[in-house]
Amino acid sequence: MRFGIKYLAVIAASTLIAPAAFADSHGGPGDADAGAKVFKKCKACHQVGEGAKNRSGPLLNDVIGRTAGTAEGFKYSKSMIAAGEAGLVWDAEKIADFIENPSAYLKEVLDSGKAKSKMSYKAKKEADRANVAAYLATFSDVPVPAE
Ligand code: HEC
Repeated sequence: MRFGIKYLAVIAASTLIAPAAFADSHGGPGDADAGAKVFKKCKACHQVGEGAKNRSGPLLNDVIGRTAGTAEGFKYSKSMIAAGEAGLVWDAEKIADFIENPSAYLKEVLDSGKAKSKMSYKAKKEADRANVAAYLATFSDVPVPAE
């Protein structure tokens, strides 16, 4: 597997240095300041920052790099836990995709029409999704979205 790992590292490195032109497929790297405004909508259920707690949604500190469904003490849907067990680890791009339609996203990840997320909110605008994901990255130890 040595070769495989090296190969992955090359892909990861080229993703990091990918010019902005490529970023467009997911709405760009996102603007964290604009994302702070978008996050107001998430605040109905989520907290982030110092003293953040689980509410009706899990706290979102350090969500980048976190395995899906693993914020301590939060009661996730079965599907979210299964997605984490299947290897889903959040990065900014995946968060942006997830919040477009959480249940549809989990259906795809789990390849099951029965999958369903507890998160009912859908972020409709592509720019909002990228921006709020960039905002969340500022509360995570992994500032650069990892692939
Ligand atoms: C109506 C409440 C609600 C709103 C509004 C909401 N969420 Fe959620 N969110 C949830 C719930 C509940 C979960 C857990 C989902 C599950 O278990 O299937 C969740 C899960 C998540 C996760 C996965 C976290 C983890 O620990 O695996 C992310 C990321 C997330 N939400 C981001 C957002 C963002 C960004 C917004 C705003 C654009 C948002 N959410 C708006 C309720 C909400």
